[in-house]
Amino acid sequence: VILVLDFGGQYNQLITRRVREAGVYSELISAKTSIEEIKRRNPVGIILTGGPNSVYEEGSMTVSEEIFSLGIPVLGICYGHQLMTHKLKGKVNTGTVKEYGKSHIHFESESVMFQGLPEESVVWMSHQDEVVEVPEGFKVTAFTKDCKVAAMENKEKNLYGLQFHPEVVHSVLGKEILSNFIHGACKAERTWVMKDFAKEKIEEIRVKADGKKVLCALSGGVDSSVAAVLVHKAIGDNLTCIFVDHGLLRKNEGDEVEKIFRERFHMNLIRVNAQDRFLGKLKGVEDPERKRKIIGEEFIRVFEEESNKLGKIDYLVQGTIYPDVVESGTETSQVIKSHHNVGGLPEDIEFELIEPLRELFKDEVRVLGEELGIPHDLVYRQPFPGPGLGIRVLGEVTEEKLEIVREADFIFRDEVKKHGLDETIWQYFAALPNVRSVGVMGDGRTYSHLIALRAVQSTDGMTSEWSRIPYEVLDIVSRRIVNEVPGVNRIVYDVTSKPPSTIEWE
Ligand code: XMP
Repeated sequence: VILVLDFGGQYNQLITRRVREAGVYSELISAKTSIEEIKRRNPVGIILTGGPNSVYEEGSMTVSEEIFSLGIPVLGICYGHQLMTHKLKGKVNTGTVKEYGKSHIHFESESVMFQGLPEESVVWMSHQDEVVEVPEGFKVTAFTKDCKVAAMENKEKNLYGLQFHPEVVHSVLGKEILSNFIHGACKAERTWVMKDFAKEKIEEIRVKADGKKVLCALSGGVDSSVAAVLVHKAIGDNLTCIFVDHGLLRKNEGDEVEKIFRERFHMNLIRVNAQDRFLGKLKGVEDPERKRKIIGEEFIRVFEEESNKLGKIDYLVQGTIYPDVVESGTETSQVIKSHHNVGGLPEDIEFELIEPLRELFKDEVRVLGEELGIPHDLVYRQPFPGPGLGIRVLGEVTEEKLEIVREADFIFRDEVKKHGLDETIWQYFAALPNVRSVGVMGDGRTYSHLIALRAVQSTDGMTSEWSRIPYEVLDIVSRRIVNEVPGVNRIVYDVTSKPPSTIEWE
């Protein structure tokens, strides 16, 4: 393992990811982790990340000097580079530069970090402080116009510092530089493969939960599905899955989920058809946030009722993935929408959690899912919000409106797939804005619903760009929906990005 010590920088999870992409398991851990704990983990390398502080600032995050004399290779990036300098008695100037963005850089090709690379390149910089004097025993190994110590190293002690961010794609040779640290300095072997991960996790869960009663809330989404299958492989029928069908799923979705888990994986599955309960609670409610709360709370209530019927439960499986863990650590961001995952559970739960995917990124979860034999279509399913169609019917949700949006959405998905666009568009769906407009069909006037189509490109849902779907495809979709879905006479395509819009309409 290569341990990445987190000093709070914005690219920190990317570093972990890049190391794993280089075939070596890596984990982001708190910078406050004790030296004893770090030694116990026996890492082949340590990376100190960037962070928002200045090394001289009071209360700024720090490390014990001992970390530099464990005989383990250490790489400091940005703040980590400055911290290494400061701790080893070099000199850092604060607030002297403002370098942000791409910079031309010159590398010393003899250096361990830049071995085999061209001497000129472009890197991504984001800093205000800079190293002005390297510690004893160190050599400057790269510079830019504004930064004299863009990199430094002490080869004997295996200590390296980079002022720039090799983990960011804008650092053109970033991958190669990290690889020089990982495979060159740390001599780490490529051993991080999903098959091993699956095997180890299954064994770990077996040891922990064998003979215990374990429960899982299955939503049909990628994460909970992969988690459930993994746990099922470890403990078989001691796992019970509860699938709450709130009636807000897409066309046929509930049946498909049931089929896959019952027939392919032979899991203990309880499907609760609670459509009427949810619709009842949503009756007359128009406010989007209230709808989300109602759906989230009702979900928990149904889930609790079902689990109570099963007697005492020892563990609960959750499909928490790495970005969830990181995001829940930020306390300052504003709530735009309460992203209640329908799987979100109350805080006073009395079971212990099993979260087998906590260390994985979304695309790693997908690879793992296929490794475990989950169908490709499920594993690569586009994101779907917990409250489902409940927030795609704007305003009050009724069965009639759900039916319209379900059918329109089905046609849209069908055509996107037929035209081979499904794996390039990040998310695509139909929404019902609850607007009626005048139309003409045959010789008669109509006054019917409007359907909005939305398709976006994104990597994480935080920002997005609307997808340039070919007009011909939009044309076919539009014609089909108006012809095949009663109660619709007009189609619009949403051409706004996020921000200023959000992906969903509510
Ligand atoms: P927005 O609409 O906020 O959506 O731009 C960003 C991504 O999150 C999904 N989304 C949700 N997911 N519960 C969820 O589990 C929710 O309440 C929720 N609201 C939005 C949305 O589909 C998109 O992928």
